[in-house]
Amino acid sequence: MKSVNAHGIHSPFLYDLYTRAIAPSRGDHSLKAVEELRSEMLHSRARVPNIDLGAGSRKNNGSETEVRRIASVSVKPVREARLLHRIAAWLKPRCILELGTSLGISTLYLADACPHAEIHTIEGNPYIRNLAVQNFEKSGFVNILSHEGNFDEVLPVLLPKVPPPDMVFIDGNHTYEATLRYYGMFAGAPQKPVCIIFDDIYWSEGMQKAWQEIYARPEVTLSLDLFHMGIVFFNPDLTKEHYYIRY
Ligand SMILES: C[S@@+](CC[C@H](N)C(=O)[O-])C[C@H]1O[C@@H](n2cnc3c(N)ncnc32)[C@H](O)[C@@H]1O
Repeated sequence: MKSVNAHGIHSPFLYDLYTRAIAPSRGDHSLKAVEELRSEMLHSRARVPNIDLGAGSRKNNGSETEVRRIASVSVKPVREARLLHRIAAWLKPRCILELGTSLGISTLYLADACPHAEIHTIEGNPYIRNLAVQNFEKSGFVNILSHEGNFDEVLPVLLPKVPPPDMVFIDGNHTYEATLRYYGMFAGAPQKPVCIIFDDIYWSEGMQKAWQEIYARPEVTLSLDLFHMGIVFFNPDLTKEHYYIRY
């Protein structure tokens, strides 16, 4: 009831983002080579050890998980991967940072959208990261830099060494505290990203609370609730607005 389409949008910045990146799913294409890798993963009965890194998937319990299960429950479905691709292509960032590589499917969509950008991606489970790295090698992208370790340990070492990320995609450790902590690292940086995308904003009460607190922050000038994802922008030229968007 509260969501809008192009007719309900008044900001020229958002109108452009909506019409050129969020809305146009028709005629948009999946990445064939990446979808072939996804399909391989969806058929793989290989097992990888689970490692507790914070809020795990509620659906991946036990000491090991089959790769096909990870591919079906943890990885962005094609519709959302395509949305990420369109947003990244619209934004044209120089540097993207992804928290939560998993098998590397969303990373590959980002790398394809921005072939000239540096794509840094962090994964804490070394067994899963190895599979992602194999996928990156098979796909031939040379702009992906994969980092292994817990976000809380990798970020303080990585951030001073890389260009300030223009686009941050937070897709792991979905707890209230961790989400606010990661938000604070980027929103409090001398050079804020253009946008931060949060996945699974309605995954739990904690995530919903974190999302509501984040978009209410004074430094956030535009926030978009796309249901599966929430996006915040820091552009000081915009008047503070919050939109629910259907796409
Ligand atoms: C939802 S999956 C990422 C899916 C991936 N972005 C995609 O759509 O293809 C989240 C990943 O984050 C990793 N993760 C969760 N908490 C973490 C932490 N604190 N540090 C490092 N990695 C973490 C998990 O191991 C998992 O593989």
